[in-house]
Amino acid sequence: MQKSSAGDERLEILTSDHLPVVGELEARCFSAPWSVDGIRETLDEGGSGTVLHRGDLLVGYLLTRRLPVGVEILKLGVEPNQRRRGFARRLVQDGLRRWTADGVESVWLEVRESNNAARRLYAGYGFVEVGRRPHYYLAPVEDALVLSLDLGEFPDGER
Ligand SMILES: CC(C)(COP(=O)(O)OP(=O)(O)OC[C@H]1O[C@@H](n2cnc3c(N)ncnc32)[C@H](O)[C@@H]1OP(=O)(O)O)[C@@H](O)C(=O)NCCC(=O)NCCS
Repeated sequence: MQKSSAGDERLEILTSDHLPVVGELEARCFSAPWSVDGIRETLDEGGSGTVLHRGDLLVGYLLTRRLPVGVEILKLGVEPNQRRRGFARRLVQDGLRRWTADGVESVWLEVRESNNAARRLYAGYGFVEVGRRPHYYLAPVEDALVLSLDLGEFPDGER
């Protein structure tokens, strides 16, 4: 990914330098957060990520990994007091453009059934529900919905 910026916002590749701040943001975004070591392990095993800065503040992150069948979004989080400003959209849109350019065929993710904010966000890009994992999440226990997006339908990367 190239560094890109709009106004005082900029996207960067997630590196180990970002991990302490991303770990704190992860803890503010999820009821059962991953540890910094868990995120680091994902990167060490070939995962990749993007962070979004607004000025000096790291406001959001996206963590993904390659699957045999496409790309999986493992984590997407935006600083609670910076939400509804299009930052998640910026991170997802950047990923979709890159994956489409790379010839990735599909994008997958799991989301809590009650997570209306994320479900709406992903529905806006055309993600559809393709499965359910009963009692997948802890704290609180809840089903995961499996969502998928077929990138082959958007060969020019525009959406
Ligand atoms: C889900 C999350 C990443 C959205 O981040 P955000 O920066 O606020 O999202 P955006 O401002 O880019 O919103 C994009 C769209 O998502 C949907 N959306 C986002 N927050 C929403 C909310 N609270 N209620 C309903 N829809 C919402 C809307 O469709 C929105 O478009 P709109 O503002 O034009 O209506 C953020 O709420 C978050 O970090 N939540 C906790 C972690 C999480 O649930 N991650 C996803 C796990 S799969």
